[in-house]
Formats: sequence, structure tokens, C-alpha cells
Amino acid sequence: MSIRISVIGPDAQRIADISSALPAASDSLALKTATGGIVEAAAEIERDQPDLLVIESPRVADGDLALLESSLLTAPKTTALLLAPEHSSEFLLKAMRAGVREVIPTPLVNGELAAALGRQLERLGLQRFASPAARVIAFVPAKGGSGATFLASSLAVELASRGMRTLLTDLNVPFGDAALYLTEARPTATLADLARQLARLDATLLDSASLSISDDLALLAAPDSVERYADVTAEAIDRILTVARSRYRFVILDAGRGIDPVTIRGLDRADEILLVAQASIPYLHAARRLIELFSGLGYDKGKLRLVLNRHERGAEISPADAARTLGIELAHLIPNSYRSVAWAVNHGQPIQESAPRDAVTRAIAQMAGRLMSKGPGEPGAGPGGSGGRRGLWH
Ligand SMILES: Nc1ncnc2c1ncn2[C@@H]1O[C@H](COP(=O)(O)OP(=O)(O)OP(=O)(O)O)[C@@H](O)[C@H]1O
Ligand SMILES: [Mg+2]
Repeated sequence: MSIRISVIGPDAQRIADISSALPAASDSLALKTATGGIVEAAAEIERDQPDLLVIESPRVADGDLALLESSLLTAPKTTALLLAPEHSSEFLLKAMRAGVREVIPTPLVNGELAAALGRQLERLGLQRFASPAARVIAFVPAKGGSGATFLASSLAVELASRGMRTLLTDLNVPFGDAALYLTEARPTATLADLARQLARLDATLLDSASLSISDDLALLAAPDSVERYADVTAEAIDRILTVARSRYRFVILDAGRGIDPVTIRGLDRADEILLVAQASIPYLHAARRLIELFSGLGYDKGKLRLVLNRHERGAEISPADAARTLGIELAHLIPNSYRSVAWAVNHGQPIQESAPRDAVTRAIAQMAGRLMSKGPGEPGAGPGGSGGRRGLWH
């Protein structure tokens, strides 16, 4: 959700001056302006309940403050800033009692308004929204049934439970199934709906197309019918990820098996690609082919890591051997835990809830811990957070 700001002033010039002290409009700020005075401001507060209301009024009578007070009582989440020529301590006290958070004396002194706005926006959480772009982590199964969707969805749940706003994006177009792993609710909108409205794609549209799983976790589902998937183009994915990166701390891609232009664009944008395989010859063979393909696409080798799933102690092919054969770093070893995983998957319930102490749950927690310990641009965190292609491998 973006921060909604309403600016009300006596004329267009004053409104422009106030607006210019705000950070540049972005996906995290929605700005609305209107000419008017206290009466209009009170109406705006009651009608729209903006997060921040900035009003400039050349005169403020006691009756005006009473009006502001009664409207602010109806909108407890609205923060009001008042720009007025009056700044006696008596007036300041009255304004505060009416619920105004700060009074900024006019004419404005250089920088004072920007500082007050900065304080309030920070308090409203703008920093959280303006934090560095999300890290994009892609899960790619070496072949069908590797466990990519299970791991992607479980990781997303884990990150969100640690307060990281996370978007799980199902790139298995057209037949994604990531929603089934997390919830009994069925998505009402999908990637295809977003792709069809690319011209007006913004944070609000992204939010409305995502299924909210918990406070910090949302799912962008893949279309479940063939008619609608033609709209999901590489360009659409690119644009959707751009908006998503500004809204979330982590964007987890369940990239699926099809290495098509849509998937490739998603992988291009990924900071890290987790290749999910199992320690058996068919999986390792398929993994090798994918690694060659990624090399051909020019991906930096450091962007790719191996996740060995369904690990059994004493397996004929050891994890170290698997990583050595493939020539990529082994990042995670996920134990085989048939009963717990099958139960979670069959009930559409995160494994963190159904089997909090299972070894798989612990391995997923470690994965989240590793990813959270890296900021964009750090070694192993992907090329400058941009996830672009770089250099050749061998
Ligand atoms: N660590 C694990 N232990 C036991 N079973 C697991 C484990 N990980 C995944 N599974 C099982 O493997 C099956 C396949 O998992 P999943 O659907 O996540 O694979 P996938 O790579 O996404 O497959 P697809 O290519 O069909 O999309 C699931 O039914 C799940 O129960
Ligand atoms: Mg899958």
C-alpha cells in the first residue's frame, strides 16, 4: 500500500510549493491536491482519510480548529500538518489539542516544510517502502517434481514470518499451482490480468491482483487457463517485477520447468537462481543441461546455486559430489521428510504450521537466514542487485 497524501491550499501556487517539498512521486506515494481551506480539508479527512493531510490556511479561527478536530476524530489514522501564519504558543497548543500533529509557520523558512514532511513520512513508514529494492530469488526445478514449488512457497512463508514483505510469483504459465501449497483460497486475479492492463500497471494494481496470504505475504498466481496466458509476455513480466521490487523486500519466483521467454526474463531479473535437484543421475543430468543453458544466457556463475532436495543420509551420490559434478556452489541441503511434506502439501498449509520442528522446516529457516543476511550488491547477493547478465563462466 502506498502512503496517501492530500495537499490543500488557497491557490495553485501554494499547492505547488508544498508539493515540491515532498519526495518525488513514486509507487510508494500517492498525491492528491485541491484548492480550498479548512472546510475542504475537514471534508477530505472524513471522505478519504488520507495518511497525511497538509493544509495551508491564511487564517485559522477557533471554529476552524473545532471543525478539524471533529473530522480528525473520524479518521484516527490521518496525520494533519497545518501551515499557518499564526504561531503563538497558545495557538500551537490549541492546534495540537485539535489533533494537528505539527504547525509550520508561514511564510515558510527554507527547508522547514521539507523537514516536517520528512519526519512525518518516516513515521508513516516511508522508509520501509523506500528501502532498497527487493531481492529477487528464483527457484528452478532441474526436472519435474524436484520440490521447487514446495521450497519457493515455504521460503516465502518463512521470510514473511520474519517481517520481510514477500511476494511469491508463480511463473508456471499457464498452469501454476503455487496457491495450492499455501491456502485453500483461490486467486481471483492472476498474472494475466496484470499483463492485460500493463498501461496502468502500478503498485495499487499489483496489490489488487495479488492474493493476500498473511500480513507480509502475497501471492501473484499464474493463469490457470490457456486462453488467457498469451497476454503474459516477457515485457509484462519485466514491468511487473519492476513494480514488485519497489513494494517488497523479497520477490520469490517459482520459475517452473519451461525455459521460455517469460521464464528467462524472470531469471534475468533474479539476483539469485536456486536450482533445485535431487541426488540422482536423471536430476543431475537435467541440472547440467540447465546450467549450460544459463551459461549460454551469460548469467554470472555466482548467481546460480544448488539446492539438493530430499537428501537422505548415506545416499550413493553425496551432496559434495553432486555440487562438484555440476560445478556450482551447494547452498542448501533439504532433508527428505515424506510424511511432513506430503501432509503440508495435501492440506495447503505451510509446513511451518503443520510441522514446526521438522528437519525440513529447520532447513527452510536456514535458507531464509542466509538470504536475509545479504543486502543487494553484497558478494553472492547478485550483480549489484540488478540480477543482470555478466561475463562468461569458463
Ligand atoms: N524435502 C522433501 N521431502 C519429502 N517430499 C518432498 C520434499 N520436497 C518436495 N517433496 C514432495 O515432492 C513433490 C513435488 O514437489 P513440488 O510440486 O514442489 O515440485 P516441483 O519441482 O514444483 O514440480 P513441478 O515440476 O511439477 O512444478 C510434492 O508432492 C512434495 O510432497
Ligand atoms: Mg512446481
